[in-house]
Amino acid sequence: MTETRKPKRAYVETYGCQMNISDGELMQGVLADGGYTIVTSPEEADVVLINTCAIREHAETRVLGRVSQLNGLKRERPEMVIGVTGCMAQRMGEKLLEDAPYVDLVMGPDGYRGLADTLSQLETRRAAPAARAGKRGPQLAVLDLSLGENYQGMEQRRGDQPTAWIPIQRGCDHRCTFCIVPYVRGPEKNRSALEVLGEVRGLAASGVTEVTLLGQTVNSYMWDDWTFPRLLSEVARVDGIRRVRFTSPHPNDVSPELVEVMALEPSVCEQLHLPAQSGNNRTLKRMSRRYTVESLLEKVDLVRTAVPDIALSTDIIVAFPGETDTEFRDTLDLMRTVRFDDAFTYKYSPRDGTPATRLPQEQFIDSDVAQARLAELIEVSRGIQGEINAAEVGRLEDVLIERAGRHPGQVLGRTRRNKVVVFDGDVARIGRYARVVLESTSGATFAGSEVEVPAMSGSA
Ligand code: SAH
Ligand code: F3S
Repeated sequence: MTETRKPKRAYVETYGCQMNISDGELMQGVLADGGYTIVTSPEEADVVLINTCAIREHAETRVLGRVSQLNGLKRERPEMVIGVTGCMAQRMGEKLLEDAPYVDLVMGPDGYRGLADTLSQLETRRAAPAARAGKRGPQLAVLDLSLGENYQGMEQRRGDQPTAWIPIQRGCDHRCTFCIVPYVRGPEKNRSALEVLGEVRGLAASGVTEVTLLGQTVNSYMWDDWTFPRLLSEVARVDGIRRVRFTSPHPNDVSPELVEVMALEPSVCEQLHLPAQSGNNRTLKRMSRRYTVESLLEKVDLVRTAVPDIALSTDIIVAFPGETDTEFRDTLDLMRTVRFDDAFTYKYSPRDGTPATRLPQEQFIDSDVAQARLAELIEVSRGIQGEINAAEVGRLEDVLIERAGRHPGQVLGRTRRNKVVVFDGDVARIGRYARVVLESTSGATFAGSEVEVPAMSGSA
């Protein structure tokens, strides 16, 4: 008797950074190759995967809430598989399976290549008579961090967006004392430059015009004799690619060679994310960031001299254990000195296993002090952002239309400097470029209107 099996349906929900979004696409690629149909809601799915982040406690609490909510669906359909993947799965491992017995699978970032096989293993175990008799289903944990896994040859499953994330590096060789990433993603592993270029060429042929190269310290990329500046300039020259971005660079590897490529290659966007973390040298040292405020400011000068119109963004942590009020004020000074276009601001969140958690207890900062510092930092950084953006009203910008805006008849896109603009336009033009005059700003984003351009300009 031959059994005709319905294709299984899988749903992937992603939390966290761009690397995770890219990993979500990768998991969908592996599942599609393994015969799964990818669906867009957990209600339709046989397998639900929650792709998680571990960077701060808050990110994990959110996921735990979501997973227990999904258990509601599972009660109605006990055959449904719930998997937790990514950094939090790697960090919590078996403990997650104990705390949440309805979770069937935990898998860290280096397990994705075998995802479809792991799911069939799980299915086999579930079908075994012993498992059927037990109350709790079989659970699987795939938590090996592999030195060799550089995700070579694995295909992302991308939607038909006009922009694409390209992971070129996984893991991190730094040990910033607050950060969990090296423990959940392992050491730095770089993908073959030839494969990266092949992927970009394929995407360009399919109509993608903007790519973002991804890595934890993307600019320390090294493969064979390929450095990051070399890879960046080759990617920038791929036919059909009009915009290249990259994130996140480590300030120490912002080199004259990199800045030269940014200045010379027309498709490299005038945008740089420069995670400062703090504006105080003692704090930077205790964070093991391996640069000083002075050397960071030199990097800012280097970039601004070569690319005067560059938009800079940063990440800042307040209330790192032991940070004094004066040291916090140094961070505010740094913000005022550099005047970042955008800042992602965080309260320090202790992550088990990271060196900073072993600092003396009395150094840990009360949450109301931390909250007050965060609020003050946000006020300063939003104030600066508002001033910079107000001064940009009136500029004429090339905007890549990325998606529909919130209101019907509106579209949303980004400028080369990564600023978000909403304007009246037809969603049929998603993926096209428009010339848009910036008319007003909310502080963070812009409203604009499209200006007519002669038909031959090629930008419609
Ligand atoms: N090099 C990576 C860093 C990833 S984490 C990259 O930029 O891609 C992103 C940001 O989260 C960090 O730059 C840092 O500002 C913040 N962060 C990391 N660990 C944190 C912690 N324990 N508490 C608060 N913020 C943290
Ligand atoms: Fe984290 Fe520092 Fe690496 S912030 S990802 S350990 S560069």
